[in-house]
Amino acid sequence: TERTLVLVKPDGVQRGLIGQIIARIEAKGYSIEKLELVHATAEQLAAHYEEHEGKPFYQPLVDFMSEGPLVALVASGHGVIPGFRSLAGTTDPTTAAPGTIRGDFARDWGVSVQKNLVHGSDSEESAAREIAIWFPED
Ligand code: GTP
Ligand code: MG
Repeated sequence: TERTLVLVKPDGVQRGLIGQIIARIEAKGYSIEKLELVHATAEQLAAHYEEHEGKPFYQPLVDFMSEGPLVALVASGHGVIPGFRSLAGTTDPTTAAPGTIRGDFARDWGVSVQKNLVHGSDSEESAAREIAIWFPED
């Protein structure tokens, strides 16, 4: 079945939102296949965000993702890749719709990085690549 890589970013862990975020994934009917609390290594973040290397927000983003532990998980189910991104809401939490994770819990804190609580793979190719980064034994 389809699988996606979800990260509860350090802002989500720090704010105590792990449970509420996972609850929404489960309530939607997806399965949690793997789950780990990790402090991301520089190597993991460089690989995870390689598509953004060179962009102005890249270094602030990597710094933010290193600020504290994050939760990496693999969720599975038919349509889970677009389905989780729908649960997450748009990238910018200012405009993310109410009812979404970012719309309900995230806001613009006026700093250089968007603290938008979660990451979700954007395609099957990204999911396979990202699952290998966070769960190399998989
Ligand atoms: P992810 O699920 O986290 O990958 O978010 P996304 O797919 O909605 O966004 P994208 O992959 O384009 O960007 C990855 C992350 O970089 C975002 O979630 C934000 O945290 C950050 N980001 C993206 N665009 C910007 C930007 O224009 N400015 C800043 N400061 N951060 C950005
Ligand atoms: Mg993305």
